Amino acid sequence: MCGIFGIVTKHEKNLGNILTAAGQRLSYRGYDSVGVATIHADQSIDLRKDVGKVQAVAEKYNFSEMNGCRGILQLRWATFGEPSQVNAQPHLDSKGLMVGAHNGNIVNNVLLRKQFSAEGMLVRSTNDGESCVHAVERHLLQGNGMLDAIRLAYQDLEGDYAFVIASGTDEKLYAIKNGSGLIAAFGEDFTCISSDLPSILPLSHEIIFLNDGEIVELTPSSISIYSAETGEKIERQAEVVIETMEAAQKGGFAHFMLKEINEQPQVARELLHLWDRMGEVEQVITAIQQARSVYFIGCGTSYNACVSGAIFFNNLANRSVIPIAAPQFMAQYNQSTNSEDIAIFVSQSGETKDVLNAVDVARQNGMRIFSLVNVVGSTLTKKSEIWLPLACGYEVSVPATKTFTNQMVAFLFLAYRLAGKDSSVIHQLPQLMEEEIRQSMQKVVDFVPFFDGWKDFYCLGFGLTYPIALEGALKIKEITYAHCEGMLSTEFKHGPLAAVSDRYPVIFVSTKRDIPFIISGINEVTCRGGLAIAIGPQNAALTENAYHVLPIVETNDEFLSILAAIPLQLLSYQLSLRKGYDPDFPRNLSKTLTVD
Ligand code: G6P
Repeated sequence: MCGIFGIVTKHEKNLGNILTAAGQRLSYRGYDSVGVATIHADQSIDLRKDVGKVQAVAEKYNFSEMNGCRGILQLRWATFGEPSQVNAQPHLDSKGLMVGAHNGNIVNNVLLRKQFSAEGMLVRSTNDGESCVHAVERHLLQGNGMLDAIRLAYQDLEGDYAFVIASGTDEKLYAIKNGSGLIAAFGEDFTCISSDLPSILPLSHEIIFLNDGEIVELTPSSISIYSAETGEKIERQAEVVIETMEAAQKGGFAHFMLKEINEQPQVARELLHLWDRMGEVEQVITAIQQARSVYFIGCGTSYNACVSGAIFFNNLANRSVIPIAAPQFMAQYNQSTNSEDIAIFVSQSGETKDVLNAVDVARQNGMRIFSLVNVVGSTLTKKSEIWLPLACGYEVSVPATKTFTNQMVAFLFLAYRLAGKDSSVIHQLPQLMEEEIRQSMQKVVDFVPFFDGWKDFYCLGFGLTYPIALEGALKIKEITYAHCEGMLSTEFKHGPLAAVSDRYPVIFVSTKRDIPFIISGINEVTCRGGLAIAIGPQNAALTENAYHVLPIVETNDEFLSILAAIPLQLLSYQLSLRKGYDPDFPRNLSKTLTVD
């Protein structure tokens, strides 16, 4: 996830070390490229940037010797344009008189780049951060001042973003917040601005929190806020923040896992905004329409999302899809697939060796290869004809949470589009996710004692909730070290029922339409003394039959299946804490498995 930092000082001084240190503090967010720009008292701009780690790029380009009165640092997590020096940020305007950098996504970037070139501006990269600079340049060229040019640029730019910009025509630093984090702070003889608190706290605790749609103008001694809509000045006092940097990196949450669970509504929102405008989505849809067979292929959590995707495609678009774990694709379909078939690989990291092996098999068989990937620039993106970004930003915690829900949102989106349905209804989902997180956070705590003393149990689902049960069980296994088996609820009676004894916990996950199946399963467990714990819609029959019910917020069954993942994430988190484990970094596991 990108990060930006900017500083304005009273006198020209060494800024390279301050900017490098800010970059190191932002690096926990994840990034592939680093860049720094300083603006001297004579208004000349010194810009140095490249792909690589903060320390390595800083040493290679001697950031430590960079002086100025204003400085900008950017860490880039690639979304638009591959990781490369030219795509690294900050970016210059056409004549090198202004410099800026952004965080977030400008979803109309491709269209804007064409417009800027047609208007005679020099567009050097394919990165959307450069569009922010040219959008301001466009309006400066028409005779506007900086504040008005930024206000007009805000009308041109679509997406969730924040950017910081400095022009050689005055001595200020400007920034705007529209969907991405941005915080300003007062220091001694300087002011600064950053994507988040941790990068600012070692410099200042006197903080101004900004809202979306606000432009901020920084001088060495003042921070002025203006409405991007009306241009009116907004009065706001600084607040004294006493948080530590470590706590702030986790956004005030105890663990990255909890932070990432809470980020799910926002990343879903960003994915939907991004995909609404992406021509590549339609190209993948066309390939699906033309294909003989379609395979959704992944491992671990990503495989579970593939199963959800196949059910969405069946339910919403009447299209059969084969979801398969990557190594089993090689074993099961290496002889029977050909160039009439397509594979959609799903991976958070884009580096899972099992997945890349299956890509090679699919390619040898002549299949067209597409992918849904979170890490831009990863091997899988390079091996794909078209890859679609999951747009979750950096996921630190080993157990995947926000990437799982965005994988499901992505499949839901594709299913709606394939069916020719109005995908804008999915925009309700992030709000429902917010409600679900709020209510589950309270209610899931009641579930926790039911599992005390049990080292193995089951998590069962049917239809839409079958992959959710698989994922819930995987989360519990990963971070509580208990054996929790995810299974189709109707299969439970064909063997595992033998495990049930007094108060043996069994989790059932249900949608509305599957309640009759789930109720049969619940009774098979309860009449043998087991504890049937249900996660599903508000429903009298479910409440009467299960020992305990955690109700999901009211919505349609497809949305509900996505929401149902949230209480299971929170349950696994709570169970892990109760056992005294670290949910972010469970033993024996790795976030990215690059071995067979
Ligand atoms: C590892 C991780 C899992 C992840 C799986 C697939 O096993 O521990 O959390 O689901 O790899 O990873 P991918 O990056 O391909 O989605």
